[in-house]
Amino acid sequence: MNGESQRARHVAIIMDGNGRWAKRKHLPRAMGHRQGVEAVRKLVRACDGLGLDCLTLYAFSSENWKRPEDEVDDLMDLMRKFIKSDLPEFIANKVRLHIIGDWRGLAPDIVAMLEDALERTAGGTTTLAVALNYGSQGEIVRAARQAAAGGEITEESLARHLDTADLPPLDLLIRTSGEVRLSNFLLWQAAYAEMLFVDTLWPDFTPDHLQQALDDFSGRERRFGGR
Ligand code: IPE
Ligand code: IPE
Ligand code: MG
Repeated sequence: MNGESQRARHVAIIMDGNGRWAKRKHLPRAMGHRQGVEAVRKLVRACDGLGLDCLTLYAFSSENWKRPEDEVDDLMDLMRKFIKSDLPEFIANKVRLHIIGDWRGLAPDIVAMLEDALERTAGGTTTLAVALNYGSQGEIVRAARQAAAGGEITEESLARHLDTADLPPLDLLIRTSGEVRLSNFLLWQAAYAEMLFVDTLWPDFTPDHLQQALDDFSGRERRFGGR
């Protein structure tokens, strides 16, 4: 251990537990997702103050299409509303939006909204990367195809074609709601990330919880295979 505390630059979160939050309160699942968006909003506002360069959020996986159609519709509508309501704030607060995943496969109106949001936030300094229609295995296959088309597949050439190529290395991966699995999220990028699994359900996750996670991270010993 080098004895110095370290700062996390890039934190990724698997935002899980919206459904269970709603169930505990005898509310419809949609209310859990709505409250989940509130948690996102508060966290994005806190990012700069917490010293993060990049926050990556798993919002919709390529496997989440398996859910009932009305739940998928609710999630897509929340996405539309969130972009519309929060884009001005992103621009004002210098939040640069980045999207990972096969997001061009979403509904055309959402794709158009996202293209506009990406363009208008391009000058931001803190990155909010949102994983939409994201699956890590699919991402790696896409990257491998592109790397092969450009010549040799190496760790470097493949990484350059991942959706995260422009983001800083992943320092800390957090999953809420007590589940201990990656669910096809950032499999390549998490090779040497620190992991934190917390029981808090996503709608209850606050900037204070993130601060606690960063405090925990600052005391971890990272070895990257060395000694
Ligand atoms: C996470 O909450 C949100 C998405 C996956 C979109 P869930 O909807 O998975 O909530 P649980 O896991 O059923 O509680
Ligand atoms: C992972 O959560 C996806 C997101 C948080 C967007 P899930 O709730 O879909 O994962 P599983 O199905 O429990 O593994
Ligand atoms: Mg879940």
